[in-house]
Amino acid sequence: MGRLHIQIQQAMTMATASSANVYCTNATDKQISYANNSSLQKKVQLKTRPFLEDTIKDMLSKMVHVPCIKVADLGCASGPNTFFPTCEVMDVIASVCRQAHWESPELQVFLNDLPQNDFNTVFKSIPAFNGKPCFVAGVAGSFYQRLFPSKSIHFVHSSYSLHWLSRVPRGVEDNKRNLYIAKTSHPNVSKAYSEQYRNDFSRFLRFRSEEMITKGRMLLTFIGRSITDPTSKDCCTIWDLFTKSLLDLVAEGLVCESDVDSFNVPYYYPCKEEVREIIEKEGSFVLNKLEIFEVNWDFEDDVCNENFVLEKSKSGRNVANCIRAITESMIASHFGDTIIDDLFSRFAQHVGEHLSCEKTKYYVTIVVSMTLK
Ligand SMILES: C[S@@+](CC[C@H](N)C(=O)[O-])C[C@H]1O[C@@H](n2cnc3c(N)ncnc32)[C@H](O)[C@@H]1O
Repeated sequence: MGRLHIQIQQAMTMATASSANVYCTNATDKQISYANNSSLQKKVQLKTRPFLEDTIKDMLSKMVHVPCIKVADLGCASGPNTFFPTCEVMDVIASVCRQAHWESPELQVFLNDLPQNDFNTVFKSIPAFNGKPCFVAGVAGSFYQRLFPSKSIHFVHSSYSLHWLSRVPRGVEDNKRNLYIAKTSHPNVSKAYSEQYRNDFSRFLRFRSEEMITKGRMLLTFIGRSITDPTSKDCCTIWDLFTKSLLDLVAEGLVCESDVDSFNVPYYYPCKEEVREIIEKEGSFVLNKLEIFEVNWDFEDDVCNENFVLEKSKSGRNVANCIRAITESMIASHFGDTIIDDLFSRFAQHVGEHLSCEKTKYYVTIVVSMTLK
């Protein structure tokens, strides 16, 4: 049995005017839980594994041997993906230490998410880590605040969380019949989204720079877009299909049009250039790597899976369940929970139709590796 020490801590609270209290992925007791509908995010974690390995190896080769390495995983959610980065980091450290005939350091892992995350399930499912010493703590709070004491963290990791903004941007109230930046949105809408992202991501970098040790490392993976045009298909199509599903319910009198008009998602999909510019301007980190890869919306659709034959309804359902596990709490809080089943079955249908006739079917994924100056 591994030595496990569990703590939970509430991050220092700071004044926020965020809408974060209605965000959270679906807990395990929900019909469509995040734990059972996060295969896409698992695929992303597997694809970024080589980056994680390189980053940890490089960090170990350059740091003085310490008795305890402190790691933070930001936006950990709850489910099978929660412990994957921790296990990976442990394996890489163990293999480096074995080869160098060093004694393995202890590992302290801070799993962070918003306070309403299903931390109970997280704590009930901590693995044994093959007998290696690992001390796990939960840190409930927004990563757009300070979460840790100054100069305490060696490695920060975050996967598929940083495209969540701290709030819906101000100034998008007139984005009628759209939920995100769309071809029909006024240019002020994309301006408001990109400014919110710039502020949020800059703040994220500044707070982490205060919490990390000098030369500490950070590996971030999030959804982005492939070109500078913020209305590029690869980031807008999924929300266009979602809007279409809501408008179906408006046509049937199940949803008020004014509720659709006043709803916008708190996500932003940046392009590489924006990410680079914000990191350089904020100035605390050296950018080691900034790369892009694609993952298909349907986790079962894969170039490695040669047998994949599109089944419209199955693919539509896979994509809809993945989005539902992430957005249900915020959709229900705005539109009420009675429309949820109907809405996501329309959405599954529209996605299935789209996938069978058009090829915009992937998330552009950005991976960034940095060193604190
Ligand atoms: C799609 S899940 C990704 C979970 C996990 N890292 C994975 O790869 O499967 C995104 C997570 O980010 C969390 N999140 C979003 N905004 C956050 C914030 N400001 N602070 C902390 N966590 C946040 C959400 O609650 C959610 O659990």
